Parts: sequence; C-alpha cells; structure tokens
Amino acid sequence: MGTVLNRLFKENFEPEEYCKIALPFNHRSAFAKFRCGVAPLRIETGRYENIVLENRVCHICDVFIEDEAHVLLRCPLYDDFRNHLYYVAETFNDNLNTLDDNQKYDTYEEIDKIAKDILKRVKCRPQLGIICGSGLGGLADLVEEKETISYFDIEGFPVSTVPGHQGQFVFGKLRNKPVIIMQGRVHVYEGYPLHKVTLPIKILKLMGVTTLFITNAAGGINRDYNVGDIMIMKDHFNIPGFSGLNPLIGPNDDRFGPRFPALSNAYDFNLRNLAKKCVKELGYTDFCREGVYSMLTGPSYETVTECKFLLQCGVDATGMSTVPEAIVAVYCGMKVFGLSLITNSCIMEYDCKTCANHEEVLETAKLRSKDVQTLISKMVAEVEV
Ligand code: HPA
Repeated sequence: MGTVLNRLFKENFEPEEYCKIALPFNHRSAFAKFRCGVAPLRIETGRYENIVLENRVCHICDVFIEDEAHVLLRCPLYDDFRNHLYYVAETFNDNLNTLDDNQKYDTYEEIDKIAKDILKRVKCRPQLGIICGSGLGGLADLVEEKETISYFDIEGFPVSTVPGHQGQFVFGKLRNKPVIIMQGRVHVYEGYPLHKVTLPIKILKLMGVTTLFITNAAGGINRDYNVGDIMIMKDHFNIPGFSGLNPLIGPNDDRFGPRFPALSNAYDFNLRNLAKKCVKELGYTDFCREGVYSMLTGPSYETVTECKFLLQCGVDATGMSTVPEAIVAVYCGMKVFGLSLITNSCIMEYDCKTCANHEEVLETAKLRSKDVQTLISKMVAEVEV
C-alpha cells in the first residue's frame, strides 16, 4: 500500500490552536489516514468525533486540507496529546481500506514481516512472553536492559484503547531471563475481530516465543473467592465459541498450527505445578486458588442470571480476555500459563445495590499487583523455556 507511518514530534506543531502537519511526500491531493484504535479513519476535510490517538479519545477533531502539502488539525490542545499524534499518510491513488483493514485475515508472510520488523529494532531474543492484563502492566518496571516499542509504531498491529493498558512491547531481562512483555492488549469489545485480537500471539510465535504467561483481571464467580485472590487457570470456558466466535475461524495455515487443535490440556500442567510451588514458597497460599476462567466478550458486565449460569457451569472467575489468546497460543504450539486477579465479586442476587465497574477493577489490581508481579517474576526465574 505504500504507507508511511510517521511519528510527529512537537516541533512539527504550531504553538497556537492549529497543529500543522506536513505530509511526508508529495501529495497531489492531501489527505491523511489516522490510525485510530479500531478503524483507521480516512480523513478528509470535516469534523470527526471520538478519534483515538495514543489511547486517548479526542472528542472533536476538525480537519482541513490546506494545500498539497499540509493538513490542518484542530483538536483539544492538551500538550501531551499533541505530542503523541501519529498519522499514516497515503498517496492519493492508494486503495484505502478502512474498517476492512481489520476484517482481512493476515497471511503468514504478513505476520512474519511484522515479527521481523520488530526484531530488527531490538537486541533481545526472548522465548518467554508475558501478556499483562488490566492494571497489571507494572511488571515491566522490573525489567532490566529494557527496549520498548509502542504498538502504534508497528504497522498492522492492533492498538489498545482501554485505560489501564499502556500498549507497548517491553523487551529485556526479568530475573536475568530474556522476556517480551506485552503491556496492554486489545479486546473483542473494542471492535476488533478475534483474528486481530490474537494477531499478537502469532507475532510472538514468529519472534521465537515458546512459552506464554497470560494475566487478566476477572470477576469472582466462585462464592469462596475473595476480592484480591489470585487464581491459577486450570481451564477455560469459551462462551463466545458457542455463538461462532473462535479466533481460529478462517483459512488455516499449517505453519502456525493444525486445523483442529486439541485444548484438553490448554493450561500447561508443569507450569501450573511450578506456580503452586512458587505460591507456597512465597507464603501466598491464603489468597491463591486454582480454577476455571470464562470469557464473555463484554464490554457490559454480566447480568445476575449470567453469573448464576456460570456458577452452575463450574466457572470460578470471568473476564473479557485471555481465552482467544490462549487458544491461538496452544494452536501455535506454545506452552500456556494463565493467571487471574479477582478484582471484584460477581453479583448473584437480583436486588443487590452494588455493581461491577472498571474503577474498582483497576483499584484492586493496584492493591494486589505487587504480589502478582512477585509471583510471576519468581516463576520466570524458575521456569525452563
Ligand atoms: N466481569 C467481566 N470481566 C471482568 C470482571 C467482571 O466482573 N472483573 C474484571 N474483569
């Protein structure tokens, strides 16, 4: 597509209300295509609402085509906001895909190219990947010899739009072991199709990752669970799969994995045992459990009836992520370990006045995140990859 991704630095902007963007090459007719969270918008003159730039929603953005070389943007003048404008400029004749960019299945070759582009930018070659859930990205602070790459700077990479998800790869050493940490992920509820949600897993695979730790925030379904408990995932319940939502739907490329992968031992037995040993040694047994995680797409939290149903199905905790990633990771031949932090207790009484909310989720994650980090880093130190 001849796309050029440019990061715009502060010097590019006029000091006053309008930011002036110089397009990077000769445009006969100037327009810019912005990378938004879900649907890159084709921007021509006009007013746009809810454009997501660097994980922040710009509620109103006026766009003017000034001349062949400049596009003018008028958006709220948050200083940090203007520092983080990115755009993709396209030549006029490019066949602009907008939403279609996300609908199209990425080929093995395209994914391999993304993986190689990322590896070109870092020295580290980890075999261990870690995906951090809501509010759990602090693990990356423990990484030494850090090399970071923002998802925004990776062409074709889905960008997270949720508070609590920073949106970057952190390469480096955790307890002296090379790791790739994904600080932030994308979810189905952001509008991404499942094959995009799980694209990062295939990229990790082609970057050499063989073992994947996945963390998430989850609501407690099991009535014995307390807020702040940590749950080792022993299995999952893929509820979207019941209605035809599975990340492996679509053409299969055997170089990634088989058409019909088995999931009966999805969460690696040895990794779970290692987790239990670490829990014991850290003195965490009082607040650690082993249980079954279910995924609903969200973004609405579960109704009381849905929670009662999950309880009857043997589910212990529920969230909005992890399952698609785990499915694709197992399919790609990775060993998978999953950990849930119980950030709230799911409501099981019809007339209860309290309800789940994202602030509570982040607040609990903050309180318990150090323990999650300690457990994960101990496992990293001891795991054989
Ligand atoms: N439901 C779904 N997802 C969640 C919850 C919940 O109660 N808590 C944190 N993520």
